[in-house]
Amino acid sequence: MGKVIAIDGPAGAGKSTISRLLAKKLGYRYLDTGAMYRAITYLALEKGLNPEEGNDIVQLCKNIEMDFTPPDENNISHIIINGQDLTDKIRSKEVDNNVSTIAKNKEIREIMTRIQRKIAKSGKIILDGRDIGSRVLPDAEYKFFITASLEERARRRWEEYKAKGIAISLAEIEKEIAERDLEDSTREVSPLVQAEDAILIDTSKMSIQEVLDKILSYIKDEGDG
Ligand code: CDP
Repeated sequence: MGKVIAIDGPAGAGKSTISRLLAKKLGYRYLDTGAMYRAITYLALEKGLNPEEGNDIVQLCKNIEMDFTPPDENNISHIIINGQDLTDKIRSKEVDNNVSTIAKNKEIREIMTRIQRKIAKSGKIILDGRDIGSRVLPDAEYKFFITASLEERARRRWEEYKAKGIAISLAEIEKEIAERDLEDSTREVSPLVQAEDAILIDTSKMSIQEVLDKILSYIKDEGDG
């Protein structure tokens, strides 16, 4: 059976960029689990639901069909919910500011974890998120915990926003990321933690290529899954 690679870490550490490149290099699939929590958040906000009202959102989760397309020309797998492509819509400030509230809910996490385990079952897959190595797939063959200083993570997110034409100050992003990290790390259910057996990579002063090479140096079956 193909291997499973878990990549966890705080917001803006570069997990999705690295996971996408790694998936391409190894010929693995890639599941962005943050996109799942973001999509639920987007739908809840669209329906005018209160993110604090867990029960309403659990009902919403039970009534959706979630699909992922094969990677497009930019190697991005699109998230489709009830036939609607939400890939771009889930990267908004509004979703950023509400997703951690929704991700705290135990029942919602159980539904998402079940889907993630099912998708990962056949292996040859990279999953990134907050609780993949610690909780969703504790038996994953490879576990990485990717982080960077708050300053650097905020700067990276700021560049992303700027490229999309969204005007926001660096200080505001830094505050938002710090709040979300705190919420993610201190929640009761599946908090953001480095799994005991995960390899820690601080990417503050590393290029994307350096991070990729570092991860590949640990992976023994490069390319043959
Ligand atoms: O891209 P960024 O690092 O900002 O966030 P993301 O990976 O898209 O995740 C968005 C949010 O979803 C996180 O801040 C968590 O609250 C939640 N999440 C989670 O609880 N568990 C996961 N496995 C993935 C994301």
